[in-house]
Amino acid sequence: MRVEVQEVTPGAVEADVLALPLTRGDGLTGTAAELDGALDGLLGQLAEEGELRGELGSARLVHVDGKLPSRRIAAAGLGEPERVDADAFRTAAAAVAAEAGEFVQTIAWALDASLPVPLEQQASAVVEGTLLGGYDPARWKHDGPKPKLDRLVICGGSGLEQAVDRTLRIAEWTNRARDLVNSPPNEATPERLAARATEIASEVEHVTTEALGPTEINAQGMGAFGAVAQASHNEPRLVVLRYDPPQPAKADLVLGLVGKAITFDTGGISLKPALRMEDMKGDMAGGAAAIEATGAVADLGVPVRVLTVVAACENMPGGHAYRPGDILTAMNGKTIEVTNTDAEGRLVLADALWYARENGATHILDLATLTGAMELALGDFYAGIFANDDEWRDRVVAAGEASGDHAWPWPMHPRYRRYVDSSFADLKNSSDLRQGSPVLAAEFLREFAGEGPWAHADIAGPAFLERSRGDYLTQRGGTGYGVRLIVELATRLAA
Ligand code: BES
Ligand code: MN
Ligand code: ZN
Repeated sequence: MRVEVQEVTPGAVEADVLALPLTRGDGLTGTAAELDGALDGLLGQLAEEGELRGELGSARLVHVDGKLPSRRIAAAGLGEPERVDADAFRTAAAAVAAEAGEFVQTIAWALDASLPVPLEQQASAVVEGTLLGGYDPARWKHDGPKPKLDRLVICGGSGLEQAVDRTLRIAEWTNRARDLVNSPPNEATPERLAARATEIASEVEHVTTEALGPTEINAQGMGAFGAVAQASHNEPRLVVLRYDPPQPAKADLVLGLVGKAITFDTGGISLKPALRMEDMKGDMAGGAAAIEATGAVADLGVPVRVLTVVAACENMPGGHAYRPGDILTAMNGKTIEVTNTDAEGRLVLADALWYARENGATHILDLATLTGAMELALGDFYAGIFANDDEWRDRVVAAGEASGDHAWPWPMHPRYRRYVDSSFADLKNSSDLRQGSPVLAAEFLREFAGEGPWAHADIAGPAFLERSRGDYLTQRGGTGYGVRLIVELATRLAA
């Protein structure tokens, strides 16, 4: 997609579709009202008749042949004027792209200074909504509509270019994470994730990568990660990426990004039910976000050092599989009794977290589709954020909220630790009580996060959609959750 900022008024821009923001309420306001003169009051009349209502997510095409240089207007609904926010613009932009993207090449967007969202944010949200909303998950389908839309014009002054360019790049990296998540588990293997990291390192400056295979994983003493991986024909990889900017803003700060990348989670010997098991290809969404976000941070030249560690493997049953009852020794020396092989994410993260800390990460954020209960609790919208440090947690939450990757703080407390007390080992990996599953999983992880701030994002809900969310994320499958949050977090750390 080409995206341009043009110093042109909506009344003068030449596009196949001119998108006009419209809020709910009596009569036209803002940009729509200003333009209606040139249209002999057409929009006002349609609004009065109830055809244009400004409902959030509605996009109505109105043909205006001859009256404007653009052939059509898309009345893009933003909903209630007092509730208009960046998400409303993203949603409206996605709706316009969905309505017209199949048969037009160029959409121009008019912004509206009378609305409570700053123009720069409006422009960014329009770019994001168009790119993320226009994402096509059906790469493996032979026929079906292919979008014609390939050019987006923002009508607005200079000064918006930088924000627009940055948002475009972040959205592209986000869609790359979605590609990885949507790739089937026979393609998106641990080896393939390592290859993707190599691709990024060869394309983006100051990024290097290495990948540890099964022998090295065991040699490192990663008994928890190794056990989860041991039944699979597809070998595990510990994917490590380093971004070393030439002039880091904070000399002694290394942002550690740790990702869960179970390329397929069958549950192992504690096998999952068959219904919708195919969605467990998305159990590598945390790792995919960590990998692509590292590319994004480096591509944007954010001056923050990053160490990314992604534990990639399958969780399979089989003759060589780890068992309930097995006692594993993690890299930090702690012993773990396996009580459920389907609680594999915390096992692979245990070793990945410790590895990140040992290798210099000072501020850690892990991302994981860790617990089904997280999705039960918060649905597909918010991720839950846990941390051993309130300030670090609040920074992660704030970065998420600002970026569009919505995040909500969850509690931790040492008294949850008893849920993972084991009769035989230092701790066990799951509890048979149906209580507090996301919190006890976080308590488990805490023991492997070492010293220093660590936060955990349980992204089981927003990372992979069963169906449209009804906003700008309309496609089933991966959302790229975490890429935008990480870029925002890194940018704020550099400030
Ligand atoms: N990958 C799953 C969590 C999950 C479930 C993510 C549904 C997204 C949608 C994880 O490995 C898992 O199986 N968790 C179990 C843990 C339990 C066995 C303690 C869960 O949450 O049910
Ligand atoms: Mn599992
Ligand atoms: Zn899992």
